Amino acid sequence: MVEKNNYNDLTTQSDYDKKAAAEKSVDFIKNGMTIGLGSGSTVYWMMKKLSQKVEQGLQIKGIPSSKRTENWAKELQIPLTDFHENLTLDLAIDGADEIDPDFNLLKGGGGSLVREKIVNNASKEVVIIGDKPKLVSQLGKIPLPVEIVPFGWEVTANHILSQLDCKPVLRRKDGDIFISDNGNYIVDCSFEHIPNPKALHDQLKSLVGVVETGLYVNLADTVVISEKEHVNVLVA
Ligand code: 5RP
Repeated sequence: MVEKNNYNDLTTQSDYDKKAAAEKSVDFIKNGMTIGLGSGSTVYWMMKKLSQKVEQGLQIKGIPSSKRTENWAKELQIPLTDFHENLTLDLAIDGADEIDPDFNLLKGGGGSLVREKIVNNASKEVVIIGDKPKLVSQLGKIPLPVEIVPFGWEVTANHILSQLDCKPVLRRKDGDIFISDNGNYIVDCSFEHIPNPKALHDQLKSLVGVVETGLYVNLADTVVISEKEHVNVLVA
């Protein structure tokens, strides 16, 4: 997955579709809610629209799921709170890299999978936004991001290789090892087919050194998808 540098760019149909789905998702946000703010380019458009509503008087507070999202929230003047003040959120809105027909998700293309999962898991309702190609018949075309502890990462990666038959690739950015917001490494694991996301997630989580996987099972309530800027709201 190629990460965008300028999130304000609207150059491809995918950009327009992400924006359309993101803006629609803001309809789910009601006055007084605490909102989980996901990560990624689609979430950026949701936050832009949300900031307009805040300017018009909507009162909400957000918990960001990455440092980048936190920076955007500050730039866009979206009020923030934290888990110290709120153990439960009303709603989380997040993107995804793949969404299967049961609303299982593959996430972590941007490397925020742990915080995103904590935020989504703490929310009463989770809305996932994206463009149509995110809908897949089965997860796995995109390599699965797995966050691992840096100490002994070679051992952890070797266990993933030998026990799960996938070659984990250490994620790099601009030539350097990519470091997550939690100070960990990410390995991207190509499975090609993930027929049972829960079983694979459980297997990976049982390995020492694995912090979290990008597989999200039973988390999404609603999926908002756009194709040629025509938006569909799908309910689980
Ligand atoms: C980041 C994520 C993102 O939600 C996912 O990669 C989708 O990103 P985008 O909206 O840019 O397509 O999981 O870790």
